[in-house]
Amino acid sequence: MKQVTSVAQLREAVAGLRGRTALVPTMGNLHEGHLTLVRRAREIADHVVVSIFVNPLQFDREQDLQAYPRTEEQDLDLLRSEGVELTFTPSTEAIYPHSMDVHTRVEVPGLSDIFCGESRPGHFVGVATIVCKLFNMVQPQAAVFGRKDFQQLLIIRRMVEDLAMPIEIAGVDTVREADGLAMSSRNNYLDPQQRKMAPALYHALQQTAEALRQGERHYAELEENATRLIAAAGMTPDYFSIRRASDLGTPAKSETGFVILGAAFLGMARLIDNLEVNL
Ligand code: PAJ
Repeated sequence: MKQVTSVAQLREAVAGLRGRTALVPTMGNLHEGHLTLVRRAREIADHVVVSIFVNPLQFDREQDLQAYPRTEEQDLDLLRSEGVELTFTPSTEAIYPHSMDVHTRVEVPGLSDIFCGESRPGHFVGVATIVCKLFNMVQPQAAVFGRKDFQQLLIIRRMVEDLAMPIEIAGVDTVREADGLAMSSRNNYLDPQQRKMAPALYHALQQTAEALRQGERHYAELEENATRLIAAAGMTPDYFSIRRASDLGTPAKSETGFVILGAAFLGMARLIDNLEVNL
């Protein structure tokens, strides 16, 4: 496996690749969720490039950026055992040689301003900017993202469509722990007692999904019930919302493609999760 850290080295390495290349952008601290993305990338392309970069531009709080787990050696071992041929692990200076404050930004309005974008101002501008930049550096034919970050996936798809980027975006289902908790690098912040409480977010999503399947259409009431469940389990709810899956708009009574989105604070962690319901 080749590991490159500069943009020049990256360009040279990808120039030598023949056939289709798929990029898997990550912030490291890799778990089974990330590795499932890597496996999907191998299915849809001849070459897989994985980037590991904790992108300061998408963090709205300095403390969150500092605390973000960095486990590069372990990550590289995992990627090696998955047969990845190229990793890109740039420094912040390699990506933002000038001040981040004056860096060009990519904004997907509307979709970026709600839910996680409302709780974390500037977050999705940071995400769209780094993903756009990685796309230009690697020039892949495909890129793979997790449905765990559903809003992020929609924003990337919209950016690719709006800016006519010739890149296929693949979405991979959320990989969960045995008790249903969505795998996340931020789960490391939970102490054993909090870890036991954490699946309540998924349970609230499941309960709401079941109600939708039963034909319940009082969305506000379902959202309130779920929020109460999450609070009763000891978490601080951030948002919980039933939306149209295609664009996060308010669903009509006749809607058939839903996504239920939830986020909650638990100790040091902010957990997010979602469930899609197709009727
Ligand atoms: P990160 O949180 O490291 O996630 C990298 C990719 O892994 C994302 O596409 C995310 O949706 C996916 N992923 C994380 N946990 C998952 C799970 N349990 N199941 C399935 N997929 C999962 O998301 C980011 O990094 C950054 O915002 C990034 C896109 C790299 C831009 O900096």
